Amino acid sequence: MAKAKKTTVFFCQECGYESSKWMGQCPGCKSWNTFVEESLSTPSLSGREKTKAVAFGERREPVILAQVSLEREERIQIGIGELDRVLGGGIVPGSLTLVGGDPGIGKSTLLLQACKNLAEQKKEVLYISGEESLKQIKIRALRIGEFSDCLKLLCETNLSLIEDTIRRLKPQVVIIDSIQTMYHENVSAAPGSVSQVRESTGVFLQLAKGLGVSIFIVGHVTKEGTVAGPRVLEHMVDTVLYFEGDRHASYRILRGVKNRFGSTNEIGVFEMGQQGLTEVTNPSQFMLSGKPMGASGSVVACSMEGTRPMLIEVQALVCSSNFGIPRRQATGTDLNRLNLLMAVLEKRVGLQISGQDAYVNIAGGMRLQEPALDLGIVMAIVSSYKNRPIEDRVVVFGEVGLSGEVRSVSMAEQRIQEAKKLGFTTCIIPKACKDNLQPMKGIEVIGVSNVREAIDLI
Ligand code: TYD
Ligand code: MG
Repeated sequence: MAKAKKTTVFFCQECGYESSKWMGQCPGCKSWNTFVEESLSTPSLSGREKTKAVAFGERREPVILAQVSLEREERIQIGIGELDRVLGGGIVPGSLTLVGGDPGIGKSTLLLQACKNLAEQKKEVLYISGEESLKQIKIRALRIGEFSDCLKLLCETNLSLIEDTIRRLKPQVVIIDSIQTMYHENVSAAPGSVSQVRESTGVFLQLAKGLGVSIFIVGHVTKEGTVAGPRVLEHMVDTVLYFEGDRHASYRILRGVKNRFGSTNEIGVFEMGQQGLTEVTNPSQFMLSGKPMGASGSVVACSMEGTRPMLIEVQALVCSSNFGIPRRQATGTDLNRLNLLMAVLEKRVGLQISGQDAYVNIAGGMRLQEPALDLGIVMAIVSSYKNRPIEDRVVVFGEVGLSGEVRSVSMAEQRIQEAKKLGFTTCIIPKACKDNLQPMKGIEVIGVSNVREAIDLI
């Protein structure tokens, strides 16, 4: 009789790269020291069982595209506007969603609140926790508020028992908190390892597609590499959301990274308080609430986050350096971009700033990458260098090119509208954008074609 084949494989705990031998650097994601040996004893399925497993329990026939009905595609509105929007307008039945984020950022809280809302709408919801006891969930629930009776809790980590329960209860929405605690008996690796995480996700994928249950999977992201990063399963799920934010600040951002049913660049903004998370419907106001008045090196810029314009404060501090190599630091934006913009100022405007220390900060701990912030960063640097404050009621945006030209950006009108809504009186924007705009009432719009023109306005 053939002995059961038992092999060991090495997995990169960051990206899931598989190798038969140990390697120092992962060829897939180029990270070091991430390979861990895992033993794989694959359950030997007979040919018949395999066919059964592949077909999710029943045999499917090919259908003609035109005959596919969209009736089932009705989305379930959660009733938390920020979450619904990031999902692309609510939960799609039968979808598999991954909610990733650092431990302690608020993933369980967010999903429990979603459960509360869904239960109030008389939806069948099952919350499966492998991390917390029923009592702990109850304590959290008490902080969030009154729960209706439709929410069912289960504390379980054994995948086959969970699968059994889901098949029996057939709820509409299931939360798995978290994927790193789930284990399949047939896989001998420890819970949280790449093979376990992959196997578990595969089971949830079958359940979601087969039964039409919407499943949310919580996944912790850790740098240590002891727990498999959810990166491994990003390609298996329909939607990937990352919950991020500074643990010391109260606001949290939910960012769509992948979405088969909607746009990926939407964000949702929440604030963590005593009673769980509350939506921040006007993030611009929230971000600008601590802006100092009449201070040099501070300017309000506008960045598009998905379809939403967001006004944020860009701060810069430029001072002469005590060392041979000046210090440059960028918080919330790209350091290379800062170096590039300072070189543009030196060469095209003639500011002697190459020997200066420069620190740039996007206030509030937001991380933004949009090129439209360039002009804001440039203005903040010049304002700090010359120690001349910029008018408080001014918003600037525009991309800066290497010859010092200010290039046009998308959705200028929405940005200006947002500035107007928050009581700003002047917008400094790329000239090319201004030429395409209808004249606007209630706000002065100044078009600039290069950095020097913009600086002359200070
Ligand atoms: P949690 O949802 O447990 O994080 P995750 O599931 O991502 O690990 O959130 C935990 C943090 O949120 C914890 O530090 C406590 C804090 N918190 C509040 O500040 N207010 C609240 O109402 C709740 C429920 C949690
Ligand atoms: Mg949790």
